[in-house]
Amino acid sequence: MPAMKTALLCTLLACASAMAAPGPAPAPPASAPAPVYVDGKLQLPADYREWIYLSTGFDMSYNPLARAGHDMFDNVFVDRASWRAFQETGTWPDKTMLVLEARGAEGKGVLNKAGHYQSTGLMGLEVHVKDEARFPGKWAFFVFGDDGKPATMVPPAAECYACHAAHGAVDSTFVQFYPTLLPLAESKGTTSAAWRQESASR
Ligand code: HEC
Repeated sequence: MPAMKTALLCTLLACASAMAAPGPAPAPPASAPAPVYVDGKLQLPADYREWIYLSTGFDMSYNPLARAGHDMFDNVFVDRASWRAFQETGTWPDKTMLVLEARGAEGKGVLNKAGHYQSTGLMGLEVHVKDEARFPGKWAFFVFGDDGKPATMVPPAAECYACHAAHGAVDSTFVQFYPTLLPLAESKGTTSAAWRQESASR
């Protein structure tokens, strides 16, 4: 008697929801913006500015002797679903996307007499994607041009991979520079042994 079964099921469901604790409705699940590829190239996640903001580096340089000749900020964003997973686990799930957006540092402007603010023009846009089935090293980098067109993967031999793998505090990402994430990773014990050693010997 399918009709009765349905009626019973509905009653049970109604019962369950009536018993649920009162309070605001649970937030809808974060939509995970899985990476989209076009002819093997990564499509720019156009809404990354609506993602979770992690940090801004100012004039960070890998080479102590090099001065780029201009001051720069770099802003880091991560997709919301992966950020939520990180809150639970202290590390990144498959399909994580992190965006690094570089902007020039402007000095004196109207009103501003000291300090720096960010330029409207972009100086670079790079994406770090975790896609375990697709990339042998699990992660891949993509560097976008001004046109925002889909980007080809940075070849695995590029120095990006070596530096991130050797020095990134969590799973080849620079969580040690993302102030809201580092304490989480430390408390969950997900920082890499290499980084723990590096930071202890500072
Ligand atoms: C010598 C080390 C080094 C090299 C080489 C390097 N990076 Fe990074 N990368 C960093 C550091 C440090 C940060 C943290 C930036 C911040 O805190 O603002 C970072 C952050 C990033 C992020 C933000 C997400 C994350 O993984 O933490 C992206 C995307 C990124 N780099 C892309 C690249 C690409 C693409 C290349 C190669 C073209 C590259 N990087 C080469 C050190 C490096």
